[in-house]
Amino acid sequence: MPTPNIAQKAPFAVDVEAGKSYWWCACGLSARQPFCDGSHKTTAFTPVEYAASATQTVYFCGCKHSAKKPLCDGTHKSL
Ligand code: FES
Ligand code: FES
Repeated sequence: MPTPNIAQKAPFAVDVEAGKSYWWCACGLSARQPFCDGSHKTTAFTPVEYAASATQTVYFCGCKHSAKKPLCDGTHKSL
């Protein structure tokens, strides 16, 4: 697997809405982090869907190295 670009070494806090789908940028190249803007087309990455089951604040991975993509699992602290 190729290495993703590190967009930032911290999560992005986003207020999500129950019933909505969000497409998390896996490649790290999107200009509208933490979400996909189509920039992955030149890479081997594809976005990861997050289907919100509740209206709440979610912490999306900004470093793109989380083992629990698309959410932050603390891996950014060791990068
Ligand atoms: Fe990064 Fe689409 S822009 S996955
Ligand atoms: Fe990627 Fe926390 S921002 S694991």
